[in-house]
Amino acid sequence: MPILGPLEALKSRTTLENITILRSLGPRYLLSAPFFGLIILISYLAWLSSASAPVVKGPVAGYRSFLEPTCLLRLRFVFNAVKIMNDGYYKFKDTSYVVRRMDTDVTVLALKYLDELRKSGLNQLNATHANIHNVLGGYTNLNEMKFNDQFIKVISHHLNPNINEFMKYMQDELSFSIKVDTPNFEGHEWKSVDIHTLLRRIISRLASRMMLGLPSCRDETMVSITESHTICIFAVTLILRRFPPILHPFVSLLIPHRWRIWRNIRETKKILQPILEDHLAADSSGNTGHRSTEPKSLLKWMMENAKPHQKTLHALVSTQLAVTVAAVYTSSQVTSHLLVFLSQNPQYITELREEVANSTDDIENIDPSKLHKMEACLSETLRLNPPLTNAPQRRAMQDVTLKDGVVIPKGALVAFPCTPSSMDPSIYPDPQQFMPFRNENIASPVTTPTRNQLAFGWGSQACPGRFVAAKEIKVVAARLLMEYDIEVAPGTDKMRRYYDIEDLRVLNPSIRLLMRRRAPACL
Ligand code: HEM
Repeated sequence: MPILGPLEALKSRTTLENITILRSLGPRYLLSAPFFGLIILISYLAWLSSASAPVVKGPVAGYRSFLEPTCLLRLRFVFNAVKIMNDGYYKFKDTSYVVRRMDTDVTVLALKYLDELRKSGLNQLNATHANIHNVLGGYTNLNEMKFNDQFIKVISHHLNPNINEFMKYMQDELSFSIKVDTPNFEGHEWKSVDIHTLLRRIISRLASRMMLGLPSCRDETMVSITESHTICIFAVTLILRRFPPILHPFVSLLIPHRWRIWRNIRETKKILQPILEDHLAADSSGNTGHRSTEPKSLLKWMMENAKPHQKTLHALVSTQLAVTVAAVYTSSQVTSHLLVFLSQNPQYITELREEVANSTDDIENIDPSKLHKMEACLSETLRLNPPLTNAPQRRAMQDVTLKDGVVIPKGALVAFPCTPSSMDPSIYPDPQQFMPFRNENIASPVTTPTRNQLAFGWGSQACPGRFVAAKEIKVVAARLLMEYDIEVAPGTDKMRRYYDIEDLRVLNPSIRLLMRRRAPACL
């Protein structure tokens, strides 16, 4: 029998005949690269089609036709998540619907359930478990946070009540950062600035100061860990989600960002070890002083309030890095978006500068609670560009039955349509339009989550860091607007402003702003 190419042979036979043909072809074809390639492709598509999870009963959003295979829908979700969420939102307005991510299914609950879920207990619908599940905690070293909520408690019970005093330290750090991190502007010249890299640096310094206090926060290794850690976590997560879980142990070893996570942990341990030792020594001698000279810092509060099993280097490092993940990417993205919007709509900058000028005589000590227009502007920025586009998310820790009988099965991942609802024209007229003072007459529009503004989450598990985030972003934006003229760099206004990668919204990294120092008299 003449030997046909394997595909030609397979096409013309029944399954039994195919098996006989494959056997007769012998190891030459069976071991050939194309054959293995085909098997891998088929197995991959089979995994993609079946990668499901418990969901609330409801329609699936996003299929372009009944012929579209599920694997294609999952692949499209990577870059079309927001569009698919929108389709579901308008098609099934009062119903929950399912979206298919590459690694799992997520139920998007109708907004009418928000009130009911406001106070859902941690043993019912849990935000931390959802977040850690999403970032594959086992591979990003965040799993421990599922059982250690100290990072949330310290922010809620210590940072938030001391927030005004804290802002003084943050502004001191901002002055330092402006001095050392902004480009060297000669005279009145314009410079092209990669605004997101600059803001990530500034926000990382502020976050380090918040967490460690002086002098440890100025350790450049710590600042660069703070700057890079979240990117590494997201890179590992986004790569691994493309692979079946069975391959994660192998694939994860090949990802350089995972090596960087390990290195960050090692380096953070070296930095925190002497501080913890000082603290423990002071503890045993009844002396309260320790190496960090700042009267208040998250690390100090963590050490002072830790239960004995949490007073270990390992627990402190995990907590420190978990706060970094929550605090840096989100705030730096939002501040960058805000400045890009303003540079594209310079007519609003004068009003904002006037507000800052009227609120203080000392630009290094701004009172953010007086910046109402800036707050409205920030809330509009969050509406248009929430860093997490389908927040808030919860993991069902047990079967949860809602009042109308809908059951959220144990293990289900549920989300709310944060982005579609904030772009709904029946709620926000002209939703695509950046109207910075849209929410000017609402009290605390940023820190009070509403059913149509979910960028900071919702209910008792909403972002505990939102109060400090709002103040920090307002102060950073105010300071940069007062000290610099800002314009869009040529070509930038024609660029896409952001990319959506699954549920992350990322400012286009090619965007540049032109900046120049303002004359001191303008401050
Ligand atoms: C613009 C900046 C920020 C945004 C948009 C943001 C957004 C969010 C969202 C959507 C959640 C989930 C809430 C929910 O599920 O209901 C969250 C949780 C959290 N955020 Fe923020 N956040 C920001 C800044 C910060 C900052 C500065 C901190 C630290 C000071 C922080 C600390 C946390 C913590 C500890 C959690 C809880 C995480 C968990 O439960 O696993 N966030 N944030």
